[in-house]
Amino acid sequence: MAAQPGSSAGFYNPRMRLNRELCLSELKAALRPGPWRAQGGGGGGGEGLGAEGHPLRIFDAFASSGALAVRIALEVAPQCSRPLEVTAADIDAQCCDLAALNARSLNGLRVRRLHALVAPCDAADADAGAAATTEAGGASLAPRLASDPSGALVRVVCADARALVHLASPFEYAHLDPFGSCAQHIDGFAARAPHGGLISLTATDTSALYAHYPRVARRAYAATLERSDANWREAGVRVLCGALAVAAARHGKGMQPLHSCAAAHFVHVVARLERGAAAADRTAQLVATVQTPDGAALGPLWSGALNEPRFVAAAAEAAAAAEAREGASREDVAAAREARLLLKRSLEDAPALPPFSFATSDASPAAVVAALRDRGFSAARSAFDGDASKPGSSRRVRTDATAEVFAEVVRQVTTPRPAAG
Ligand SMILES: C[S@@+](CC[C@H](N)C(=O)[O-])C[C@H]1O[C@@H](n2cnc3c(N)ncnc32)[C@H](O)[C@@H]1O
Repeated sequence: MAAQPGSSAGFYNPRMRLNRELCLSELKAALRPGPWRAQGGGGGGGEGLGAEGHPLRIFDAFASSGALAVRIALEVAPQCSRPLEVTAADIDAQCCDLAALNARSLNGLRVRRLHALVAPCDAADADAGAAATTEAGGASLAPRLASDPSGALVRVVCADARALVHLASPFEYAHLDPFGSCAQHIDGFAARAPHGGLISLTATDTSALYAHYPRVARRAYAATLERSDANWREAGVRVLCGALAVAAARHGKGMQPLHSCAAAHFVHVVARLERGAAAADRTAQLVATVQTPDGAALGPLWSGALNEPRFVAAAAEAAAAAEAREGASREDVAAAREARLLLKRSLEDAPALPPFSFATSDASPAAVVAALRDRGFSAARSAFDGDASKPGSSRRVRTDATAEVFAEVVRQVTTPRPAAG
């Protein structure tokens, strides 16, 4: 199996294990009954994922070898109180063969092969439209999906995800990992997301998002980014969130990020979409160009909260449970640990504070945070600095204090105290 996309079918990237682990933890958190539900920040919330008592439709839209879809069917579906319908799509026929093989032969799951096509329209069904997603035998996809008795079934669809998302019934959870930019794929998913549905994005176009090539960021996201500004990593995450926010608002929906993070090779965001003009307006208002403490004007980007703490806490618990799972391979345990640490870092950051953070220079970040809090300010270590897998590696602090107060506090904690007596 190829480790690089494009060289042969069935791209499987072990470096993306962390990403799959994050997605699994987040999906488990979303399915958990309990109080992660989006609230505040305009979220309204309270309704959870999908409609109570109905099957939940899960879509791994760029599935490649089906690694994530298979794990969802194996690990999440059996624990879910509602039927879970897992669909894995890939545009590449060989990837679909591999995903089916992976699900059926290697993991003993039931597999249904489907393909999306534009069917000729006869007089009888002309009103229903010409587009259909069919099983190989010709039956329509939508009615079949609702009637599967168990969660341990994976539908493998060979199709362009952008077309499929319009042809199939809405998915409560859709994951996009297209290799490269999500930008050109987001719109249809935002248009089709049901109320309360989750969209999960994994973008590997770090050359644009991490501002190695600012003109590529401008092209893909219409955003100004600067690598020379120390907040480049957070800015990239916020630009991806902003792209989803704009697409949601365009389709009369609001969006609330539940978890957003940056790792070395990818930027990942999972967000909840909510129908309604008021939610769309609140969301659109939070997309803005924002000045960093170093004076760069970056964006347009998402200026609202990047995380929903209860959701992130539930995801971190799910990652911890995966880490402790009996019989898990060493690689899976390591990935679950990395996911847990990354979620923990996100949890320690302060979602209610404004974008961007200050460098603490030679001062201890923990001491700076404590001194700011002593003065009545909010402060937390930014999750967007240092090594994502190493707790305590961030040396940047997010706060609602002014730059002057921050500088004074840094001086205070670095100035040696006069010796007593
Ligand atoms: C980065 S890989 C996905 C990796 C996978 N999520 C994993 O965890 O291993 C991207 C996949 O998207 C597929 N792809 C690219 N464009 C697509 C499209 N428009 N619709 C569906 N699949 C597409 C490619 O064939 C490739 O297999």
